[in-house]
Amino acid sequence: MIEIKNLTKQFQNETEIDYKDIVFETGKSYMLLGASGCGKSTLLNMIAGILSPTQGEIIIDGKNMSQSNQKDRDKFRIQNIGYIFQDFKLINDMTVLDNINILRLEGIDTSNAVMLLKDLGIEEKKNSKVKHLSGGQKQRVAIARALIKKPKIILADEPTGNLNFAIGEQVIKELVKISQGNTLIAVTHDERLSKYFDEVIDMNEMTGGMHDVVEKEVF
Ligand SMILES: Nc1ncnc2c1ncn2[C@@H]1O[C@H](COP(=O)(O)OP(=O)(O)O)[C@@H](O)[C@H]1O
Ligand SMILES: [Mg+2]
Repeated sequence: MIEIKNLTKQFQNETEIDYKDIVFETGKSYMLLGASGCGKSTLLNMIAGILSPTQGEIIIDGKNMSQSNQKDRDKFRIQNIGYIFQDFKLINDMTVLDNINILRLEGIDTSNAVMLLKDLGIEEKKNSKVKHLSGGQKQRVAIARALIKKPKIILADEPTGNLNFAIGEQVIKELVKISQGNTLIAVTHDERLSKYFDEVIDMNEMTGGMHDVVEKEVF
């Protein structure tokens, strides 16, 4: 379970995002939607422990992540969180399999890589360099890399953003299926995909209003 409480993120440029409280339950899938710039990626980055909240708390399975140091958060992320980044963050000059096997450096068991690639329908590309793949194929590699550690929490930032609707729909169906029993939080703008998720969270309603901090009047 992931609990978001009184969460605020303020950037140096004074953009401030106030999040409404929310609970993501274990075993459920959530679709996050909301206008560009409303704070979706920032929320995923804070849950992943890549960004620190300015105020408030992120509590994962009873543990207040905001009170851990960066090293502990990194360790927690490596062990428990599968993050599918919007821009994939794959290594283009390496093969599909090597992009997954490189996670052994983080102590992750990648012995199921080929089976997972098979589940995702790209096993035959396992020895191809990522730079030779289509957008949809890269997306699947990014999903495989995120799921190989059997993460408790799967974060997916616009996983269908680069795909046409039919392929995007297939990717979402596979992602939801493969992440069953865990918590899936996926950002997507396409409301046609909402039927595949247990819950849809509209961040336009959820954020207490993203605003630029107004400077106080000086008398
Ligand atoms: N590193 C950063 N530095 C300054 N402002 C940022 C940074 N990252 C995001 N923002 C700002 O925070 C707001 C939310 O961004 P983001 O979470 O990326 O939105 P979304 O993913 O919903 O499109 C935007 O106004 C964006 O410009
Ligand atoms: Mg974003």
